[in-house]
Amino acid sequence: MTTPPSQPKRRVHIRTYGCQMNVYDSDRMADVLAPLGYAPTDDVALADMVILNTCHIREKAAEKVFSELGRLRNLKQEKAARGEQLTLAVAGCVAQAEGAEITARAPWVDIVLGPQSYHRLPELVARVARAGALPANPQTGAPGGNKLLETDFPVESKFDHLPEATQGQGIAAFLTIQEGCDKFCSFCVVPYTRGSEYSRPVAAVLAEARRLVALGTREISVLGQNVNAYHGEGDNGPVGLARLLRTLAEIPGLDRLRYTTSHPRDMDDDLVAAHAELPQLMPLLHLPVQSGSDRMLAAMNRGHTADAFRRIVDRLRAAQPGLALSSDFIVGHPGETAADHAATLALIRDVGFAMAYSFKYSARPGTPAAGAPLQVAEALRDERLAEIQALLRDQQQAFNRSRIGMTMEVLFTGPGRHPGQVAGRTPWLQPIHLLGPASLIGRIAPVRVVGTQPNSLSGMLVAGAGQSHLTPAAQEPAPV
Ligand code: 5AD
Ligand code: SF4
Repeated sequence: MTTPPSQPKRRVHIRTYGCQMNVYDSDRMADVLAPLGYAPTDDVALADMVILNTCHIREKAAEKVFSELGRLRNLKQEKAARGEQLTLAVAGCVAQAEGAEITARAPWVDIVLGPQSYHRLPELVARVARAGALPANPQTGAPGGNKLLETDFPVESKFDHLPEATQGQGIAAFLTIQEGCDKFCSFCVVPYTRGSEYSRPVAAVLAEARRLVALGTREISVLGQNVNAYHGEGDNGPVGLARLLRTLAEIPGLDRLRYTTSHPRDMDDDLVAAHAELPQLMPLLHLPVQSGSDRMLAAMNRGHTADAFRRIVDRLRAAQPGLALSSDFIVGHPGETAADHAATLALIRDVGFAMAYSFKYSARPGTPAAGAPLQVAEALRDERLAEIQALLRDQQQAFNRSRIGMTMEVLFTGPGRHPGQVAGRTPWLQPIHLLGPASLIGRIAPVRVVGTQPNSLSGMLVAGAGQSHLTPAAQEPAPV
């Protein structure tokens, strides 16, 4: 990133909470601020501007924002006492959902902006400066001018206005292709905070992917809240995710593709076929199911049954025998009985997951489930969560152990924790480290897995490069 010479050097510290889409958005905010002379810094003490890019998905995630804002108020006051300025912005889904509350509870915040408004950040920063909002009142930390609240859902997409992505590209990069959701699961705030479903046009996605690859990216995870609902405009009408992936797979040098997060209802035949066809499409699929009980799936408005999910997994494994599954589970949704919980445990045992995320149900304001009768007691939710997590942990460890002795292609992404080590990721997204030269970074090389640790694998380099990410040994169904 270059800073125009006429601009003073300023620093922005962006703290990201929540999902990978927020990671992508934080990088885009760094991009829009770059022409104003802002360079990113990891050190909050050096920052002239701090942005909290927030997550509203669960209560705990949202609460963190207010405690962090308390700490930032102190920092702002300390800076003001030294005659220095600190601009504070709250972005993301908490800003969208609780903008008015933020300005009331934390008046020292200068800018509150929702996820659809990041392209407007430079204008808002300029308005803060013009309004004389800074320096802040040294007693309260409150800015002098009005707080700027920007939480509209504009008719045009922010993607039409954001500059070319320059931040965040690496050997493995994210690329947001779709945003928002029209599914309205009973428990979820996303349709309210991110708005209705929007897909970026194919040409824009391809241009960004080509740029990333030219800068050294070898693996792209295309992102969306409902990524397999993607239907971006192509040359001859809308294009689904499978066709987009096939087109991305033609980009020379783009060796690996992933997509997340998908919904079982949008797992169509074409997408299943893409798993069979595309060696670039990595064999770990994150497919949230949330519950194994038909009653709960109906209450959650998921639009499918537990058996329908099992059949989808069967079709995917028939298409790609090496495929492993990841998922999300919610424990203790209103109305969940012991029998419903047992059905979830049964589904987990039947399917076998290589990894998964499980969450205690958290009532989110404005969602249908928050007002539902029969909320499950906290202690019961804790108990059920512990049971599900123990089972998922066992399955993850079994899956990791099942890789021992296999040779697989590893994408090396950086140095390891210890001298002489390099670190990378397996096709199944497991972190792996081994002794090897730094020249491996940015390359894909065959590695034999020799051991497992709780959260990673260890391996040894194998002489000679393979052609596929799956060796014959790895094509056996995962014994989990
Ligand atoms: N409570 C608990 N977990 C939730 N998730 C979404 N909303 C809630 C909620 N209200 C989980 C779902 C989703 C993941 C991103 O977060 O499992 O797939
Ligand atoms: Fe939320 Fe995903 Fe359901 Fe959409 S499909 S409402 S993002 S959980």
